[in-house]
Amino acid sequence: MTHLIRAGLVLGLAIASFLVLRSLILQGRLSFPEFALRPPLQESNTAQWANQPLEFSNSPACAGSLCHQDIYDVWVTSDHGGVACETCHGPALAHGQDTNISVRIDHEECTLCHAKVVGRPLDFPQVDPAGHYSETTCTSCHKAHRPGPPSIISHEVSEGSDCLSCHGAGAPPDRAVPADHIGRTNEQCLSCHEAAR
Ligand code: HEC
Ligand code: HEC
Ligand code: HEC
Ligand code: HEC
Ligand code: HEC
Repeated sequence: MTHLIRAGLVLGLAIASFLVLRSLILQGRLSFPEFALRPPLQESNTAQWANQPLEFSNSPACAGSLCHQDIYDVWVTSDHGGVACETCHGPALAHGQDTNISVRIDHEECTLCHAKVVGRPLDFPQVDPAGHYSETTCTSCHKAHRPGPPSIISHEVSEGSDCLSCHGAGAPPDRAVPADHIGRTNEQCLSCHEAAR
């Protein structure tokens, strides 16, 4: 029986000293910064966060005032519709007054999200940057506001066909090459556009 009482006393003593130590630390009378044992700075913390200047707006605001409605409409239904404008462009609250804004995540940083990483969910689209068309920038093939592979050619094609005779200057708008295609030649088309099988 005595051995149980002794063990109980030791345990009680340990609990008591823990509670005393804890309350001294919480009151700020004792601290061991090297073990991260210091009083919580709850009030000053709240004040500190509340004092942070507001910097971010939101994606619908970018569309507002007829500024970027066109880009918004393309973006919102795209695969990037879940990636807020400001993720790539940086804080934009002040952008209404000061029109100075840039692309914070440019074509070189697409890999921040899309590089193949073992820990990423398998169903998240990822590529090995070294092996995936590394000779040119991501945005020459994928549009930041509407990513996805270059459209598949919906008709039969033959080697050496004159694509631009139908898709070049003078083509109806729904068939014309996009503006960023200026300078691309017939020889290059099939390196990006696959023919339907
Ligand atoms: C995945 C990153 C990303 C997201 C999300 C994104 N952008 Fe962009 N944006 C870019 C990049 C990169 C460029 C540079 C042009 C290019 O390569 O397409 C750009 C260019 C622009 C431009 C200038 C060129 C142009 O196309 O007129 C505007 C304006 C713009 N973005 C607005 C927006 C708005 C508004 C949204 C949200 C609705 C948005 N962006 C979402 C990456 C992004
Ligand atoms: C902040 C993270 C983030 C950044 C930065 C980003 N993306 Fe994405 N991207 C996403 C998400 C999220 C999706 C949708 C994934 C899904 O549907 O499961 C996506 C989808 C895509 C897809 C579609 C893949 C498919 O086949 O469905 C492509 C291509 C793509 N992004 C290319 C780019 C390019 C090019 C850039 C750089 C301009 C870029 N991304 C920057 C998060 C990002
Ligand atoms: C020369 C054109 C080209 C370039 C440059 C390019 N891609 Fe792609 N990308 C494609 C094509 C075509 C596909 C679809 C077939 C494939 O995976 O090869 C694709 C597919 C993807 C996918 C979807 C993969 C999946 O599993 O669904 C992602 C994400 C992607 N690319 C991101 C990028 C990023 C990030 C860069 C820049 C580091 C980049 N791409 C550069 C043509 C390109
Ligand atoms: C004789 C005229 C003609 C030639 C030559 C031609 N195309 Fe087309 N192409 C069309 C027409 C018309 C459409 C749209 C209707 C359809 O799908 O048949 C189209 C559709 C496409 C699309 C799909 C567009 C979309 O909105 O999804 C792509 C991509 C394309 N062509 C690329 C090419 C490439 C690359 C070549 C050269 C190897 C080529 N075309 C040669 C007439 C042509
Ligand atoms: C470096 C890769 C690349 C090359 C080379 C290229 N394209 Fe494209 N093309 C694209 C991408 C990416 C898009 C989608 C653009 C967008 O979403 O605005 C596109 C869009 C198009 C479209 C519009 C279809 C649509 O879905 O809106 C046509 C037509 C087209 N290309 C034809 C051509 C022809 C013809 C050539 C050769 C003169 C060519 N492309 C060369 C990447 C390429």
